[in-house]
This record gives sequence, C-alpha cells and structure tokens, in this order.
Amino acid sequence: MIKLIVGNWKLYIKSLEEGKKLLKAIDKKMPRGVKTTVVVCPPVALAAALRREYKGKRIAFGTQDTFWETDGAFTGQVSATHLASAGISYVLVGHSERRALGDTDEMVAKKAVSALSAKLHPIICVGETERDQDGKFFSTIEKSVKASLSRIEPKDAGKFTVAYEPVWAIGKTEAASPRVAAEAILYIRKTIADMWGREKAMKVRIIYGASVDAENAALFKEEKSIHGLLPGRASTDAEEFTNIIRAFS
Ligand code: PGA
Repeated sequence: MIKLIVGNWKLYIKSLEEGKKLLKAIDKKMPRGVKTTVVVCPPVALAAALRREYKGKRIAFGTQDTFWETDGAFTGQVSATHLASAGISYVLVGHSERRALGDTDEMVAKKAVSALSAKLHPIICVGETERDQDGKFFSTIEKSVKASLSRIEPKDAGKFTVAYEPVWAIGKTEAASPRVAAEAILYIRKTIADMWGREKAMKVRIIYGASVDAENAALFKEEKSIHGLLPGRASTDAEEFTNIIRAFS
C-alpha cells in the first residue's frame, strides 16, 4: 500500500503569501524519488489558489472539511463538487476540531460519501477523547468507525483513508506511542472487517495523527500497520514536514 503523508495546516497559515512560501519550501526540500503520496490541506480559499498556481507534480491538495449537499440553499457551505472542480483531490472529514464544533458521526458519514461521489479521497478522522483503564475507549472507537463509515459501500474500500487521531494527543508535546497507535489501528481494521469482511478491510489505508514530528515519524515507520501520518503543527514548517516524509518513507 502506498504511504500517505497529509499536512493539516489548520488556521496556522494566515495569508496566501505565507501559503505560497511554505508550499515552495516544501516542494524544494522534499526528498526525491520517494513513493509516498504527499498532501497538504490549507484553509479552503488558499487551497484553491495554491492548487491553481502549483506547477509541480509531487504535492497533492486537500482541504480540512466539506459539506454533504451539492446544491440548494446552504449559505456558506463548500461542497465536494466545488473542491473537485478547483483541482482538490483529498479532504479531511470528521477531524476532532470539527467534531468539537458539532460534527456528528452521521454528518461525517454523509460528508465522506459526498466526497467519494465527487471523486475526492476522504480522510475520515476518528479517535477517542480520553483513555480509561478498562479499555472502554475501544468501544468508542468502534462506534465511531462503524457510524462514520456507515454510508460507504464496501467496494470503495480502497478509495478512502481512516486517520486514527487520539484527541488526547493532538496539539501536545508527546504523540501516542507507536505501540498504542498500532494497537488502535489494528482494532479499527478489525472493526471494518466485522462490517465488510477481512479482504475489504485489508484494502483500507489507516494512518496516524496527533503530535507527529520528524523524530517520532521514524518510530511510527517501524509499525507496519501504520500506512501514513497526519501532522498538524509540524506540517507548517517545511524543514520539519519534509523530514517527516524522509523519516517515514
Ligand atoms: P498536531 O495536529 O500534529 O498539531 O497535534 C494533528 C491534527 O490535529 O491533525
């Protein structure tokens, strides 16, 4: 499975000028000849503008959210069709920072299928808010995976990615340990296998996000079940982001 590294720029990049500079630096510093797919997710207005200007081939573009409807009276929304027509090819759905603002699993499920219909590659984020001694968080993950994937057809197993993002490790100084991440990823795959069977479950790419940096990227690489990384802060520093690509590829 081709590895995937996705930079979530969040609201950290303040202007088109800043975005241009960062993109240029990433493109320049990116290691040559790596097979890893590299995606950046700027805020939507910048994503469209940067995509239009980017002449290179090595970086793909995503956004941080989308809406599930493609037509009608929905002021302020951006549809998956809009994104696709602006040359965007990936989209995060269900990021915990969106869920904190009201996105439910059901909304995430609708966003994911809408993205697939527009031929975008959705990256569906799931992860527990906190851990408990008894392992109840496993059932939280299971419920969220089942509900967030509920509208996707098993035949589309290879057309989206699941990002395991433990909310308690996002924006912190320390990531989850590779063992903890791998265990949760195994559990997510088992959940998908329960839904769709093992063969389809093996086709789903599952990546890790939350406090990824160049140092821990090398450790995550050792866990073969982790097929990619989703750094936030570290993706807004060209040196650090390309070192993550280098370390993980
Ligand atoms: P972080 O963000 O790398 O800054 O922890 C990750 C994310 O929220 O996707």
